[in-house]
Amino acid sequence: MNLVIGGTGLVGSHLLLELLKRGEKVKVLRRSSSNINLVLETFQSYTPQAEELFQAIEWIEGDILDFQAIELALENVSQVYHCAAMVSFSPKNKYHMLRTNVEGTANIVNACKRKPNIKLCFVSSIAAIGSAENNEFITENHMWKPTEHRSVYSVSKFKSEMEVWRGIEEGLNAVIVNPSVIIGPGNWEKSSASFFPLISRGMKFYTNGVTGFVDVRDVVKIMVQLMKSEISGERFIVSSENRSFRELFATIAKYLNVKPPKYEATRSILLIGSFLDKIRSWITFSPRKISSDTISAAICKDCYSNRKVSDKLNYSFIPFETMIQECAAKYSK
Ligand SMILES: NC(=O)c1ccc[n+]([C@@H]2O[C@H](COP(=O)([O-])OP(=O)(O)OC[C@H]3O[C@@H](n4cnc5c(N)ncnc54)[C@H](OP(=O)(O)O)[C@@H]3O)[C@@H](O)[C@H]2O)c1
Repeated sequence: MNLVIGGTGLVGSHLLLELLKRGEKVKVLRRSSSNINLVLETFQSYTPQAEELFQAIEWIEGDILDFQAIELALENVSQVYHCAAMVSFSPKNKYHMLRTNVEGTANIVNACKRKPNIKLCFVSSIAAIGSAENNEFITENHMWKPTEHRSVYSVSKFKSEMEVWRGIEEGLNAVIVNPSVIIGPGNWEKSSASFFPLISRGMKFYTNGVTGFVDVRDVVKIMVQLMKSEISGERFIVSSENRSFRELFATIAKYLNVKPPKYEATRSILLIGSFLDKIRSWITFSPRKISSDTISAAICKDCYSNRKVSDKLNYSFIPFETMIQECAAKYSK
């Protein structure tokens, strides 16, 4: 039996579909506030058997900050996929995000350690990997350094990953994936999926920052393959291609049939935008959209190597152009 924690999110809902299509049994730990219809909608965008597959899910209510709820959910489970996290770049969410991601992961690791024969797959991030010093490709061996400027999200992912490494040292059978920016259909107002509505509404600015991009279907296939293998105590960068945000936005615009953003948002333009956004947030009591963390993420140029996972699993990734084209088609629908 599989337990998916964070099954209502972008990664989690695609993982559920992958496991159910393989005929596997799945339980999901979800919060009382979780919108499970998003899971059904994701299934419907891929298969006519969506309803039937959705009905096969066993739902268990609980929060990752509740140790007992996790222990109960682990009953009769041998494979645990931890895809739950708070993903935010708003300064307002700083403490809640650190607590949810780090303490939540520590709870899952500790609960798994208490049960025999459990394997855990933890979804970390490239945010938990170090930077390149000489423009080389970043690999799993680049260590995260607290001295580098890091977003609170990055600190939370690094500290969460350290909880899993601690568990591994203490004997836990676990594997870690570090995806780059994940492209896929889901809640279009949230995380990476929100690029599509932004471009379709005519966003005017792009940045020249560079990072890795990966299709969500590749992320979940790799997770399942790693869990079915003997591989343990290792981490894997999961990323298809490195592209600039300018290329990302232009490609989304091409497939949505709209004009691409025209003006480059340099660091100084972004700083002015961040200041104005701060004032807007004070006046309207709404969360900030541009912070120093979003600015750093938008302008840094990092290229990631997928060689380790490609070689180990003999895996070929969905190309960048295809993932954007297919996701844009789902967004247009
Ligand atoms: N999206 C990306 O580009 C990207 C890139 C690299 C790594 N990642 C990592 O991939 C993982 C999944 O990300 P995603 O994009 O799928 O995020 P997402 O769509 O925001 O989903 C997050 C999931 O975590 C659950 N969750 C949050 N707090 C929880 C709590 N306290 N207790 C139980 N469940 C909780 C959410 O449940 P609710 O439905 O109740 O909110 C949701 O199911 C995260 O660890 C993220 O850091 C994402």
